[in-house]
Amino acid sequence: MLKRFMLLAVVVAFVVTSGVFAGAQQTAAHPRAKAGANAEGQAQTDAKAQSEAKAKAVAKVKQIYGFDCAMCHGATGDGKTDVAKDMHLTLADWTDPKSLADKTDDELTALIRKGNDKMPPEDKSRATDDEVKGLIAYIRGFSKGQPAAPAAAPAAAPAADAATPPPSN
Ligand code: HEC
Repeated sequence: MLKRFMLLAVVVAFVVTSGVFAGAQQTAAHPRAKAGANAEGQAQTDAKAQSEAKAKAVAKVKQIYGFDCAMCHGATGDGKTDVAKDMHLTLADWTDPKSLADKTDDELTALIRKGNDKMPPEDKSRATDDEVKGLIAYIRGFSKGQPAAPAAAPAAAPAADAATPPPSN
């Protein structure tokens, strides 16, 4: 009888302590989970700030293009502007992917900074180095969605794909 009671007490004690132990483990885990959530929240804030900064930089580049470049090169980059006509400028059509394909970013940077003939130089006070980089990406982007230039195509495969008529369904 006493033995039985002792056994029961041990079992109860075990259940109670293990219950408390599990509870303690849970509370111990809690702050860590919270810290993880905070880090995740911080990362999200950082990513948001980063994408906001990027959007701002892109907007600034577009603005610079609008003020300093579009009057000659055109809002779409095709170079068909009244100013170009009046000044008898021969401007490349940047909506054609071939137009800038053979020019490196360094060559374009040098031309934008130094100017050439009737192309006016863009001063550092009007566009930072990063903004000139942005301008180059922006004007290269005018040909997006147009068929890729043969020189820019990395392999023959995409060209073969393009030649294959789409499946009729
Ligand atoms: C007054 C008109 C005028 C303005 C404004 C102008 N450009 Fe040009 N741009 C030209 C002419 C003309 C050429 C061709 C020059 C040549 O033969 O090298 C040219 C050439 C270029 C080229 C070389 C690639 C190509 O298509 O031949 C780039 C890149 C370029 N311009 C970028 C810009 C950018 C960026 C701006 C604004 C910051 C700008 N241009 C403003 C007239 C202009």
